[in-house]
Amino acid sequence: MKRKITIIGAGNVGASCAQRLAERDYADIVLLDIIAGLPQGKALDILESAPIIKFNSRIIGTNDYKETANSDVVIITSGSPRKPGMTRDELLKINTSIVTEVTRNVVNHSPSCIIIMVTNPVEAMTYVALQTSRFPKNRVLGLSGALDGARLASFIGAEVKVPVERISPCVLGQHGENMVIIPRLCKVNGKPITELLPEETINKLVQRTIKGGAEIVELLKTGSAFYAPSAAVAKMTDAIIMDKKEILHCSAYLDGEYGLKDTIITVPVKLSKKGIEQIIEVKLTEEEKQGLSKAAEAVRQVISDMKLK
Ligand SMILES: NC(=O)c1ccc[n+]([C@@H]2O[C@H](COP(=O)([O-])OP(=O)(O)OC[C@H]3O[C@@H](n4cnc5c(N)ncnc54)[C@H](O)[C@@H]3O)[C@@H](O)[C@H]2O)c1
Repeated sequence: MKRKITIIGAGNVGASCAQRLAERDYADIVLLDIIAGLPQGKALDILESAPIIKFNSRIIGTNDYKETANSDVVIITSGSPRKPGMTRDELLKINTSIVTEVTRNVVNHSPSCIIIMVTNPVEAMTYVALQTSRFPKNRVLGLSGALDGARLASFIGAEVKVPVERISPCVLGQHGENMVIIPRLCKVNGKPITELLPEETINKLVQRTIKGGAEIVELLKTGSAFYAPSAAVAKMTDAIIMDKKEILHCSAYLDGEYGLKDTIITVPVKLSKKGIEQIIEVKLTEEEKQGLSKAAEAVRQVISDMKLK
């Protein structure tokens, strides 16, 4: 029997996720949005590509949560994208109310699902979904390091001119300003980039990655990135649907890991059909630990600004 994946929000990221996941052919897809006709039109367009691409996933668009019932994975992309000059945190207010309402509806219809949060600011929105759903912490996670790491790997690949699959990045912390990139753990063919590139170049790549989302926002003028984000979401979904037990860097709730509690930051996790099966603790230097604590504190601040508690 095919699995079922719901995507909330049929905008740029949501529709791209729907296309990528339908083409994987391992699950039926429901695309939901509040705008009448939008998810239906995009779903129909994707469905009509099936004979060309050769997939048999059922894909429907809807404005009704009844159609989402009993989904295995729910990807939440509903919200407002960042406008030029706007920080992720400025999106906080608008997106908190959207994500709260959406999560309530998701939980009512799919009480056993795993939620992948995409909406920004992603750590705070993952926290909202975790609190609202009352799901165990392994079943709510956010898109962050899988995307930021891909951005970094693509920049490293261009610099050292090796195929991108030989590059393994290490991105922790916050999805944004307080991202913690660990160059000694970013490897090309198993060799740290600190042995391959001058420090100045590494710093340039690190800064470009931290500002990776903003660079695209500035270029697009309206809207934000969606090709790489949807590719990263699809990779996370693969690990869950196919029970791959793959290590991916995601926004996860910490309960003592890395010495941090009651916060959500990017860490490596083992992803399987259970969601987060394990949080992987990499050995960090004092300086790296401080970076992580700063990121955790920044996220805590955003969460307390939401006055959730
Ligand atoms: N975490 C990450 O790495 C990452 C990466 C890219 C984008 N994002 C975020 O993802 C979100 C979506 O980005 P996008 O480019 O697809 O935006 P978009 O504007 O193209 O799409 C958002 C969609 O959400 C819908 N929506 C709004 N309120 C809704 C509700 N209550 N119920 C259902 N649907 C609703 C809108 O109608 C719209 O179609 C943004 O918050 C963006 O910042 C996060």
